[in-house]
Order: sequence, then structure tokens, then C-alpha cells
Amino acid sequence: MVEGAGPAGELGVGIVGVGSASSWAREAHVPAVHAAPGLRLRAVATRDAATVAQTAAELGADVGYADAQDLVDDPSVDVVTVGVPVPAHRDLILAALAAGRHVVTEWPVGTSTAQTAELAAAATAAGVRTAVDLQARLAPAAVRARRLLADGALGRVTAVSVYSSTAAFGPVVPAGARYLEDPKSGMNLTTIQAAHTLDLVASLFGGLASFATLRTVQHPDVTVAGSDPVDHLRRTVPDHVLVQGRLLSGAALAVEVSGGRAPEAPFRLEVRGERGSLVLSGGGPRGFQASRLRLERDGSVEVLDEAGTQDLPDPVVNVARVYATFAAELRGGGTGESESAPDFDDALRLAHLLDDLVRSDEERRTVEPPAPWPR
Ligand SMILES: NC(=O)c1ccc[n+]([C@@H]2O[C@H](COP(=O)([O-])OP(=O)(O)OC[C@H]3O[C@@H](n4cnc5c(N)ncnc54)[C@H](O)[C@@H]3O)[C@@H](O)[C@H]2O)c1
Repeated sequence: MVEGAGPAGELGVGIVGVGSASSWAREAHVPAVHAAPGLRLRAVATRDAATVAQTAAELGADVGYADAQDLVDDPSVDVVTVGVPVPAHRDLILAALAAGRHVVTEWPVGTSTAQTAELAAAATAAGVRTAVDLQARLAPAAVRARRLLADGALGRVTAVSVYSSTAAFGPVVPAGARYLEDPKSGMNLTTIQAAHTLDLVASLFGGLASFATLRTVQHPDVTVAGSDPVDHLRRTVPDHVLVQGRLLSGAALAVEVSGGRAPEAPFRLEVRGERGSLVLSGGGPRGFQASRLRLERDGSVEVLDEAGTQDLPDPVVNVARVYATFAAELRGGGTGESESAPDFDDALRLAHLLDDLVRSDEERRTVEPPAPWPR
């Protein structure tokens, strides 16, 4: 239970990372906080002192800060959202934890598994709650699919196949996304799109027993959009990922994750069972996790419980579910749906899985984790 809730019982949220019009924090976190019951957008922080007050007003925040530390120190901020690029996550998260704030952070949490482990340990030591924007597992379609699977609607699941893509990591990249080509950024197709995809798979089916990975660079010569003369970058980080594996249940798993998504190639997750099938589909430019998903059971569209998110833009729905679930947890209740918001410990488990995937690719062998993943 949160002790610092404001007089109206609302929890104050402060978001860092809304400085540019195209930022994900501005596109998704701001409307998601406004939509979540019991949360108030108390503050935003950007690095532009000249415009931050206007930005705060435009985004419906009470106050704007040009220094993120001032946002962290604002006593009316109960929850700090870290929505900046991953290399800047660590310092902000540690500052928020030191001030005793609860933290919502974007995925990936850290630039490496070691950094994610450090942050998970710091959050535990601080005694606060955390949430991570691995939002697809709380998509209304995923929640419904998980329930149908738990109820045995398909009988024994025999096979799962997934195609997951994103507009990022294609042959042409925006100038502002150049840093994604740096392996040290910790932001690439494996740590982002493959991670969101496998997190959804694990949340639906309970994890992977063994897997083999093939990661390739399909676009080694990348050009920067709009550059004149044309600016060429040499891509070294894989922009295509294949995973074949066996789920803990014994079912077969095939996953293809692709950068440079074509508009006509959206997301599709197909589950076959002895008594029926499920298909999750949808997807947007930022990937399926940032979109509304639909669910079909045996070819018929399932009616979903969108629980207050039905009027939100597609990319916002799942993030809004993370905030609503987290807010309910902070108040000591739940959503009553036995769903929980992914936290730093979940993020660390996923980081370990990604390490195993990379190891499988580098060593060209099937990996059977000593304990089944997630562990
Ligand atoms: N969960 C999802 O579906 C999803 C989708 C997109 C992005 N993301 C995540 O969101 C985060 C931000 O991504 P983005 O594409 O919005 O990034 P971005 O490059 O657009 O930057 C976001 C904002 O952070 C500011 N910023 C950059 N460096 C900073 C620093 N050192 N200190 C303070 N502010 C800084 C920028 O000025 C900008 O306003 C990343 O962690 C990314 O992985 C998640």
C-alpha cells in the first residue's frame, strides 16, 4: 500500500523522456497515465528549460522540470517513469530508487544483464515496487488467450508459430535512431522485438525447455533517411532472428522476428491444440506490443474485455493496462484478474533468456537451460 498518495487518493506520476514529439513516452505513457484510474500526471521532465513548462501544459501535467532530478525530488511524485533511451536508464532509475519512488521503466531495463541485475537488486533494497513496459502480456487479447489456454479450451497444445516484425532495424534508419546501430546501446532487434515476442510466448505457455537460435544481418549496409550526401552505416547487430524450440509443455515452437517491417506483414501468433486453434494478430510500425491485437478462436473473433481502454489509440492500449494493473497493485489490491504488471525480476529473467538465445546462436547449438526458463 502506498503511503504518499495525494489528498484525492491519486498517485502522482512523473515521466522523464517526453522531450521529442516522436518519443514513445509522449506517444504512449502520457495518455496511458491519463487513462489509468487513480493516477495523476503530476510532472514531466525534458532537457529543454525554455520549453518544458509549455510541454507540461500541452501534455496535461501539473509541472515541468528541466532537470530530471527535480522531478525525482518532487514529494508529490510517487511513481517515476523512465522513458529515455536505455543507456540513460540506470542513472535515472537509481536516482528514483534513492528517493524512495516506485519506478515504471521502459524495456530493456539495462544495457546488459549485469546492469539489469544491479537495478533489480537496488529496487529490492529500496523496498519499492517496479513495473516494466513488457506490455504485450497485458494486452486484452493476450489476457483472454491465457485464460482460454488455462481453461484447457484447446486441449493439449501441439505447436506455436509466431511471426513478429517492427519497422525499425530495416535498411533505412531515421537520423535520430543511429544510436541503435551501436551494440553498446543494448537496443537491437534481439533485445527489443525478440524479447517482447518471447515474453508474450512465456506468459502464454509458461516458458521454454530448449531452443536453437539463428541471428543474421540482412541489411549490412544501412542508410540514414534523408541524408545528403547519403550517409552509410555498417550494421553489425543482427536484424533477423529465428528461434526454434520446445515449450515446457512439450509443444513445438517456431519464432521469426524481422526488422524493416513491411506494412503488409503484421504480427501473427498461431496456437494449435488437439481440440482447436487460437490466432493472435495485429501489429503496428513499432511492433505488435505497441498495437491493439485481435484474437480468433477456431476462426471466430473473440469479444475482448478492453476494461476502460476501448477509446485509446492502438499503441496506448497495452501500456495503459500496465499502469492500471500497477496502480491497483500499489494500492494493495489487484485488478481482480489474477494478472500482474511485469517487474524488474521478470525483466532479469528475460535478460537471462536473451543471453541464452545469443549463446545458442554464437555456439551454433541447441541450448537446454539447466533449469527451465523462466527461472
Ligand atoms: N515498450 C515498447 O513498445 C517501446 C516502444 C518504443 C520505445 N520503447 C523504449 O522507450 C525508451 C525510449 O525510446 P524512444 O524511442 O522514445 O527514444 P528517443 O530517442 O525518442 O528519446 C526519448 C526522449 O528521451 C530524451 N533523452 C535522450 N537521452 C536522454 C538522456 N540522457 N537524459 C534524458 N533524456 C534523454 C530525448 O530527448 C527524447 O525526448 C527506450 O527504452 C525504448 O526501448 C519501448
